[in-house]
Amino acid sequence: MTARGRFITLEGGEGVGKSTLAGALARQLGARGIQIVRTREPGGSPGAEALRKLILSPPDDVGGWQSTAEALLFYAARSDHLDRTIRPALTRGDWVICDRFSDSTRAYQVAAGGVAPEHIDALERVCVGPTSPDLTLVLDLSMAIARTRMTARGARPDAIEARSLAYHEAVYRAFLDIARANPQRCIVLDASLSPDDLARAAMTEISQRFAEIR
Ligand SMILES: Nc1ncnc2c1ncn2[C@@H]1O[C@H](COP(=O)(O)OP(=O)(O)OP(=O)(O)O)[C@@H](O)[C@H]1O
Ligand SMILES: [Mg+2]
Repeated sequence: MTARGRFITLEGGEGVGKSTLAGALARQLGARGIQIVRTREPGGSPGAEALRKLILSPPDDVGGWQSTAEALLFYAARSDHLDRTIRPALTRGDWVICDRFSDSTRAYQVAAGGVAPEHIDALERVCVGPTSPDLTLVLDLSMAIARTRMTARGARPDAIEARSLAYHEAVYRAFLDIARANPQRCIVLDASLSPDDLARAAMTEISQRFAEIR
């Protein structure tokens, strides 16, 4: 039987460099002969990508999602993503690199949005169960630098990016709190490093954790 693959998640606020790092890790781990499935949330399966559009670009007459409805949409998407993409990959022995996962729900919908954490605990039991990440890289970057990078990237803000500064400050603090509360699983990386240096720092952490790539 193939050993279960490794499940690595990347977390942090908007524009901190998660997607850039995910690409670098997929290339570097792939070059070491590991089968990589690079995926993202919300999304990562056809059903979850359909829900992503509803979450991030709600039709005008929705009037924006309330936090609980938004959290439930995220878990509907996550459940499909786990069933269709993540669990099959891990069962094959592939490694999954996932751009955002449950910590984002806790930072955005709970810490910033006010959903009760015990409601999310219940959804986690139902949808995620034992498929929790082996390693979570939390990218720490000041909001000022992140905003500058996002402005330079130039895309129009989605429904979540467009929320207030206070909301995003709560998200920023929550990711650091989550990392502190879960030191076995989470590593905080200095995301002000260059893309190459950040990828090097991440690869060092990954190779320290997982003997199979040393
Ligand atoms: N380490 C880095 N140093 C400098 N610029 C970076 C770095 N990583 C990414 N960037 C640039 O910053 C911008 C945001 O990066 P990226 O899209 O990877 O962030 P993200 O965390 O995935 O953002 P989002 O939350 O919007 O998905 C991009 O223009 C990217 O090229
Ligand atoms: Mg991204």
